[in-house]
Amino acid sequence: MTEKLLMRALSGETLAVPPIWMMRQAGRYLPEYRATRAKAGDFLSLCYNPELAAEVTLQPIRRYGFDAAILFADILLVPQALGADLWFETGEGPRLSKITEAADMARLKPADAIHDHLAPVYETVKILAAELPRETTLIGFAGAPWTVATYMIAGRGTPDQAPAHALKDTQPEVFNALMDLITDATIAYLLAQVAAGAEVIKLFDSWAGSLKGADFDAYALAPAKKIIAALKAARPDLPVIAFPREAKNRYVGFGKATGADCVALDNSVDAIWAAKNVQVDGCVQGNLAPGHMVTGGQNLIDETKRIVDTFRNGPHIFNLGHGITPDADPANVELMVKTARS
Ligand code: CP3
Repeated sequence: MTEKLLMRALSGETLAVPPIWMMRQAGRYLPEYRATRAKAGDFLSLCYNPELAAEVTLQPIRRYGFDAAILFADILLVPQALGADLWFETGEGPRLSKITEAADMARLKPADAIHDHLAPVYETVKILAAELPRETTLIGFAGAPWTVATYMIAGRGTPDQAPAHALKDTQPEVFNALMDLITDATIAYLLAQVAAGAEVIKLFDSWAGSLKGADFDAYALAPAKKIIAALKAARPDLPVIAFPREAKNRYVGFGKATGADCVALDNSVDAIWAAKNVQVDGCVQGNLAPGHMVTGGQNLIDETKRIVDTFRNGPHIFNLGHGITPDADPANVELMVKTARS
């Protein structure tokens, strides 16, 4: 049997101490991350520098001994590999060239043309597979098609994903062609990560919560199902974590319907409800509010214990409900890990 705790939880085992990792665990709250990013020049240069990307992936493992390392990259590298312009405005976030009509779609490359551009990412995975401690699981990832499409259509992050909803409703053929292209590119990208040594895949659907009813089925559930089926056709034993963030009641049955081995819960989800309605079907991940990494103290201890206790009767991976923020205190992360493991 594998000694990797994260793999054991993903195979459905209930463990006395949950495996732990953190979304955005390699990030700006760590001084060593900021130093390595400065050495690379900027965020995107860091993503495409295999030695330095591997270095920042390893930094939180050395500091905290997390049970998993997540590849350092970004969900927006796929649009860039498809031919979109991508840059980051300091203090604001990502900017991309926009998809607003069929002519914009026609300028994108086919899904199987992404690999030259993404080769440095596969190289990062190879370095990590060789360098990680034997008890640490390597997680590869991609954005889910809807979330990636929201950025490609608006050219930036949006509070309500209105431009993507508008394209879906007014030019469905353009929208569906984009969703299909992202889906196929994501399958190719993730298979290449697995071939390079990723042991688990996580699919981030950060904006799934803005899809309602039949739209949720068509654009969150169906693409996840297609991607997971394609991954498992190539690697039947590959565990997949799905994160349909803010899916609310649609978390129920999401694992079964998509074939995901684990469903990641955001911090708006009540743990007692999720243990009863989601964890019954298999492993769940989550869901401490990231704000506790800023505020710390007794609240952090109490909330960490509450979440570990509530999910203790089934398979559980301890994590935050979303990414750790740049203003977090590294000492609070230490306290969270110590509390969850005690
Ligand atoms: O440590 C890890 O979790 C692995 C690396 C990782 C990053 N982004 C690095 C990153 C992962 C898994 C992501 C996923 C990602 N990227 C998502 C899905 C998860 C989520 O947070 O909802 C999304 C929506 C993106 C797109 C993205 N990348 C945005 C909107 C931003 C700007 C906002 C921000 O946090 O700065 C980024 C930048 C980004 N991606 C940073 C990091 C470490 C910060 C860049 C910097 O160093 O300045």
